[in-house]
Amino acid sequence: MEFAKRVSWLEDTSMVEAFDHQDAPGMISFAAGIPSAETYPLDRIRESFDRVISEHGKQALSYCSTLGYLGLREIMSERMKNKFGIEYGTDEIIMTSGSQQGLDMSGMAFIDPGDVVLFESPSYLGAVSALHSYQASLVGVPTDEEGLTIEGVRAALEKYSGRVRLIYVNPDFQNPTGRSWSDNRRREFMEFISDYDIPVLEDAAYGELAFNEVPQKPLAYYDKKGQVIYVGTFSKIFCPGMRVAWLCARNRIMDKYLVIKSAADLSSSTISQWEIADFLRHNDIEKHIEGITSLYSHRCDVMAEGIKKYFPPEVTFRKPAGGIFIWLSLPAGKDARVLYKKSCDAGVAFIPGTSFYPNADVHNELRLNFSNTTDEESDRGLKILGRVTEEFLSE
Ligand SMILES: Cc1ncc(COP(=O)(O)O)c(C=O)c1O
Repeated sequence: MEFAKRVSWLEDTSMVEAFDHQDAPGMISFAAGIPSAETYPLDRIRESFDRVISEHGKQALSYCSTLGYLGLREIMSERMKNKFGIEYGTDEIIMTSGSQQGLDMSGMAFIDPGDVVLFESPSYLGAVSALHSYQASLVGVPTDEEGLTIEGVRAALEKYSGRVRLIYVNPDFQNPTGRSWSDNRRREFMEFISDYDIPVLEDAAYGELAFNEVPQKPLAYYDKKGQVIYVGTFSKIFCPGMRVAWLCARNRIMDKYLVIKSAADLSSSTISQWEIADFLRHNDIEKHIEGITSLYSHRCDVMAEGIKKYFPPEVTFRKPAGGIFIWLSLPAGKDARVLYKKSCDAGVAFIPGTSFYPNADVHNELRLNFSNTTDEESDRGLKILGRVTEEFLSE
């Protein structure tokens, strides 16, 4: 018997599977984009919880305003200014239940069935799914080494004239490719798009995970007319289990988000927000992030070395300068979904690149996560995957 509405995007279970692999006994998983649990500052989190419960327990365990706990929004407003040079008032920041909720709410805010959303191609699967669920027509725009191409955006805007309602981008150490937009392209894109009244949804999930350089300026920094909706998250710089993230938008847009958020869950978890605010007041979060990036930078080196050592030379990749993913290309015509099955049988999981293309027939790429495997697991897993890949390519 058929209980649920059946739509084709519900059949792509790659993201759910990615999380399942993480817990499968004996499996080495390069699949899910999970931060390393060893970076979670457990003792200091416990201290914060103790302080919050003993000093503000009754407020912290109540409902809070739909925008979120004001104390945390004040900190975020300061932080957006000091770290990225962008001024947002506390009423231009809404705390969300993970940035995934911010992406989903954006679909609700802007998309009617059949409206067009422009995406980088490939793009983050979770955003693709969220926007798909509002029956958006997803149009991939070509990218080059510097980001979304202006010619690509121009061509799509001409082709779908009057129908494009949203542009979704992930400009820093992108999920899945690990690539970042250049400063030039950020500036150029914002200048170009300011001629259109189309909101730009900037997903900055990995924006603070630069290995050696200072984080780049977000697109929101170059936004002169308030068309960027900036989505940041504590998941990658603190811990995802808090489910606390923030969405910044100028007032006229924020009104929509307020109504949607209120209907979705009234507000995000009050206690999680108080906990994070206390943590930020008593700890140096920038120092904490430096610890995370130095661990990930090392793990990225280990993975890149392993790929060079164990994979056939026809497999190409570019080492990222931040984030948590390495993107590999197999020779044209080779299907990473077939490799995936063989690799899982051999005890190693990854995500085939096909899942990240909303509407293109590209099958020869794959995404490997490096943040969540020890050096030993990474080496062992890559040795197996390299061997399986070599056999697969010679078939
Ligand atoms: C690019 C990107 N955006 C958003 C998210 C959602 O993260 P969260 O809801 O934990 O903030 C993820 C999760 O992996 C991601 O990779």
